[in-house]
Amino acid sequence: LDKVGIFMKVEILKALKESPQQYVSGQQLSRLLGVSRTAVWKYISELRQEGYQIESSSRKGYKLITSPDNLSAEEVLVNLHTSFLGKEIRYYETVSSTNNVAKEAAARGCMEGTVIIADRQESGKGRLGRHWVSPPKSGIWMSIVLRPKILPMQAPFITLLAAVAVSKAIEEIAQIKPGIKWPNDIVIHKKKVCGILTEISAEMEQVNYLVVGIGINVNFDISNFPDHIRETATSIKAETGTYVNRVELIVSLLEKFECLYSKAFDEKLRPQLMEEYKAYSVTLGNRVRAVSMNHAIEGYAEDITNDGELMIRTDDGKLHKIISGEVSVRGMYGYV
Ligand code: BTN
Repeated sequence: LDKVGIFMKVEILKALKESPQQYVSGQQLSRLLGVSRTAVWKYISELRQEGYQIESSSRKGYKLITSPDNLSAEEVLVNLHTSFLGKEIRYYETVSSTNNVAKEAAARGCMEGTVIIADRQESGKGRLGRHWVSPPKSGIWMSIVLRPKILPMQAPFITLLAAVAVSKAIEEIAQIKPGIKWPNDIVIHKKKVCGILTEISAEMEQVNYLVVGIGINVNFDISNFPDHIRETATSIKAETGTYVNRVELIVSLLEKFECLYSKAFDEKLRPQLMEEYKAYSVTLGNRVRAVSMNHAIEGYAEDITNDGELMIRTDDGKLHKIISGEVSVRGMYGYV
């Protein structure tokens, strides 16, 4: 991983973006970065290979014409304003699963907030051992490494916050309000656009690391999908009719997640964070069926506790606390 190269390219892009449609001289860039003009030229050619259209003139310098619609660490970093989340981004064109790459990085001691992004996954993983379809150029497949000082049983709460962050980001960038199906499916018009898979390495009384894997169906054309997926899944573009810039969505998501995550360990702020979650819930107030391990219950989704558990009132008046599992909501994903 060429960290220096990425840093240099980010600084060059920042400088070029600061003077839109104007030339920035090679000398200015070389002074800014503290490297030779030949080195500047080398980074510019790398940027061109990555899809940036940069005009050059031997007298005037360099001018950015267009940025690619590709995902890249540089594009995210240029726009990102966070203090630790996404300060290190590792971008891959193809991986098996970003969660697997993130787990390896975490085990080798990468810093908290490291983000793994891929354009495409060959064996994307969903919850409960399912497969997650992850085609190129059209989705966000990314994993975030966190090292919270919490008990393993508190980990699901972090995943709920990730769901809130994704929802807020979609609302901001795509201008449509999504819903969260408990615990952490994000839906638009009753179909799933995002799933989150958190994996954890822990001892009984301490978490070593969490990997929060987020998959968002952004721009893909859902009609290419097999029938069984099309009934329950969709993409942001399919629902809003407009193309969404993936970099903008990633930047917004990371900024919102950092903000929520930084409040997560203050007990006093939990109720407020859960209120934010509940405001997106499409589970609350509906008839639901919860299936866990070996039994199923059906009832009314009455509340979500400050630890994120779902409270279901069955018809006999009893209240049940659901910690994890699959919950179907009437009217969604084929439950009628
Ligand atoms: C679900 O089943 O709802 C969870 C889907 C999680 C998919 C994301 S895509 C990025 C990360 N890498 C994976 O292999 N899975 C998660």
